[in-house]
Amino acid sequence: MKFQVPRGTFDVMPEEAARWQALEARARAVSTASGYREIRTPIFEATELFLRGVGETTDIVSKEMYTFADRKGRSLTLRPEGTAGVMRALVEHGVAQAGRIHRVWYTGPMFRYDRPQAGRYRQFHQWGAECVGSAHPAADIEIILLLVDFLASLGLAGTTVQLNSVGHSGCRPAYQEVLRAYLAPHVDSLCADCRVRFEKNPLRVLDCKVPHDREIAAGIPSILDSLCAECREHFDAVQAGLTLHDVQFTLDPRLVRGLDYYTRTAFEVHDPSRGAQSAMGGGGRYDGLIADVGGPSVPGVGFSAGLERILMALEERSLTPGADAPLVYVARAGDAAVEAVAQQLVRELRREGAAAAGTAYAVIADLEPGRGLGAQFKQADKAGATLAVVVGADELAADAVTVKDLKTGTQEKIARAQLAMHLAARLAGAPAPNPTENAR
Ligand code: HAM
Repeated sequence: MKFQVPRGTFDVMPEEAARWQALEARARAVSTASGYREIRTPIFEATELFLRGVGETTDIVSKEMYTFADRKGRSLTLRPEGTAGVMRALVEHGVAQAGRIHRVWYTGPMFRYDRPQAGRYRQFHQWGAECVGSAHPAADIEIILLLVDFLASLGLAGTTVQLNSVGHSGCRPAYQEVLRAYLAPHVDSLCADCRVRFEKNPLRVLDCKVPHDREIAAGIPSILDSLCAECREHFDAVQAGLTLHDVQFTLDPRLVRGLDYYTRTAFEVHDPSRGAQSAMGGGGRYDGLIADVGGPSVPGVGFSAGLERILMALEERSLTPGADAPLVYVARAGDAAVEAVAQQLVRELRREGAAAAGTAYAVIADLEPGRGLGAQFKQADKAGATLAVVVGADELAADAVTVKDLKTGTQEKIARAQLAMHLAARLAGAPAPNPTENAR
C-alpha cells in the first residue's frame, strides 16, 4: 500500500525548509520591531467559537470547516483562521479590557476544506497580527503598514492595497435594506446560498463567486454612500494615514471579505502579477468580535497573510528569503585517538556554528568510522559541502587541522584554537549547499 499526503496538503522537504524558516524569521522580526508579541493558541477550538466569531453565513463556516466530535461528543473544529482563537485567548486570560492595548502576532497552520489549486490549500499557513484595544484609525494604519512593509522588505514590489469600509452596527442595517431593495427583483435567479444570504445577511452576496450572482452584484449601490458620519470620518483618516506613508491604495466598495466580523475598515493586499489567488493577505477592523465571543466591548484590528502565496510570489521573481547554512564536512583518517578528536571536533564546531545569531555553518561527518579519505570527500561533495576539515595523525600532533576548499582543492593548516573563527569568516556569504543527491 502506498500512502500520499491528503489532498490539499503538502510536505515541506528539507530542501525547502530554509525558505520557510527565513520567511517566518522575517515575520517574527517585523512583528517584534513594531511592538507585537507572539501568541500561540490551539489548532482546534470549540466549533461554536467560529460560528459566533466568523459567522454562520460565511463560506468558511458553512462549507469549509474540518469539524469533528471528540470521544466525549464535544464538537471541535480545526481552526480555519487565527483571529477568533486569539480573541478567545485574550478574553479567557482576562486581558482584553477597555483602555488596554495588546499587540499580538501568530503563525501556524490553518485548515479550510476548499477546492485545492495553486495557492489554495486545505492546510495552509498564515502569519497574522492583531492590535486589540484601540478604536482609533491610527491602529488600522499601523496594521496595514505592518503587512505592506513586510512584503516590501521581502522585495515583493508592485503589490496593491484594496480598501473599503463596511460600516458598523449603527449604519450597516440601513445599507442592508438598500441591498435587499436592490436584490429583491433578482432574488429568484440568485444561487441557493445567496437566496439564504438575502434573508440572513445580504452583505455576503457581495462575496459570492458564482458568475451570474457577480454580474448582479456589480450593479449594487456602494456601501460607501451609506456610511454614517463617524464611519466616514474614520475611513477618511485611514486613507489620509496611508497617503502620508506613501501607500498606494484603491477603493473597492465591494470588498466585504470572507468573514463576518469586520466593522469599518476592510482591506486586502494583492500581487497583481498572479492571476487567481492574488491575495497575499487581508484583514480589517472587528469592533464587535471580542464581545461576540463572550468578552467585554473592546475594539480590534488585524490581518493575516498567506505564507504559501508569498513564497510562490517570491519564487516567481527569483527572490530567495533564505538558504541553508553552508556545510562543513569533517573528514578523518587515523587511529582511535584521531577518531576521538574528530568526533569531539564535530560536536564543538556544531556548537560554535549554531552560536551565531543565524547558524553560521552546519557540520556533518561520516557516521561510520574507517572509510578512506577519498570516499569521505566524495560524500562531502554529494552533500554539497563547501569546506572539508581534515584530521589525521600529523594534524593531531600539531593540534591543528587541514581545511580543504572542496571546489578549488586548495588546502591550508589551521590551528585548532583558530578553527571556528576561521570557518565563520571563510563561510560568511558562502553559497548554500547544493546536494547532488539526498546525501545528508
Ligand atoms: P483571510 O482573508 O481569510 O483572512 O485569509 C488571509 C490570507 O490567508 C489570504 O489573503 C490568503 O493569502 C491566505 N489564505 C486563505 N485561505 C487560503 C487557502 N485555502 N490556501 C492558501 N492560502 C490561503 C483571515 O484569515 C483573517 N483571520 C484575517 C484577519 C486577521 N482579520 C483580522 N485579523
